[in-house]
Amino acid sequence: YPVLKPEELDWSFAGPFGKYDKGQLQRGLKVYTEVCAACHSMELVAFRTLEDLGYSEAQVKAFAANYEVEDGPNADGEMFTRKAVPSDYFPSPFPNKEAAAASNNGAAPPDFSLIAKARGVTRGFPQFVFDIFTQYQQGGPDYIHALLTGYQDPPEGVVVAEGTHFNPYFIASASLAMAPPLSDGQVTYDDGSPETLEQYSRDVSAFLMWAAEPHLEDRKRLGFMVMVFLAIFTALIYLTKKSVYANKE
Ligand code: HEM
Repeated sequence: YPVLKPEELDWSFAGPFGKYDKGQLQRGLKVYTEVCAACHSMELVAFRTLEDLGYSEAQVKAFAANYEVEDGPNADGEMFTRKAVPSDYFPSPFPNKEAAAASNNGAAPPDFSLIAKARGVTRGFPQFVFDIFTQYQQGGPDYIHALLTGYQDPPEGVVVAEGTHFNPYFIASASLAMAPPLSDGQVTYDDGSPETLEQYSRDVSAFLMWAAEPHLEDRKRLGFMVMVFLAIFTALIYLTKKSVYANKE
């Protein structure tokens, strides 16, 4: 079945001056913790980095304490579990990959640390040439949003494998081992944002972009300064060349 192209959305972090919307990231974190974290880990993201989203140290501490992580070995050589602290990482809900696959029809839910950078990044010629200058990064969030909102009934004659769901945006095949995880009204927002599948999908996609690229704003700022520097440097080199060769006919 042909894979559909995700719709391109407007993201606050798009473009050379893009910035994350902290309110949106906080809502995305809520969707991730209440829904996605039941299956998807985020093992490269430490709780302490949640301070980027505008939370205080105390709030992060309290948040981390909701999780249990494995630690050890202790003095007796045994592993044990304890409450997570801010320096721990979002743990996997499954003890290992085999268990993860076994409880999901044989397909292990991928880790979310880098998912937004791992999908939807390739755009063919000539777009990728411009993408360097426009700082195009949003292919991943576009893809995740399309995947979450893209479930539909299979068209006539298309049969999906048992235990899978028809989703024409899934890059691997149109049958996805993940059931539609989100629906209207599932997660409560306390900032008045709409509690809809559409809004949840946007928010969690933005959050996953932050998880994969937490220093996006710094990188863009530095990149812009480098371009300004190069422009001035080019002008100076040109003037130098003109002055050095001024008397040489
Ligand atoms: C795969 C997103 C919740 C089970 C995926 C993928 C994404 C994703 C982006 C990767 C697709 C790809 O490889 O291109 C989400 C989001 C969730 C969520 C944003 C929360 C809103 C869940 C839940 C479960 C689950 C709750 C388990 C009940 C799976 C499985 C796969 C998967 C098994 C692998 C599918 C396959 O390879 O066929 N999910 N997911 N997901 N997810 Fe989720």
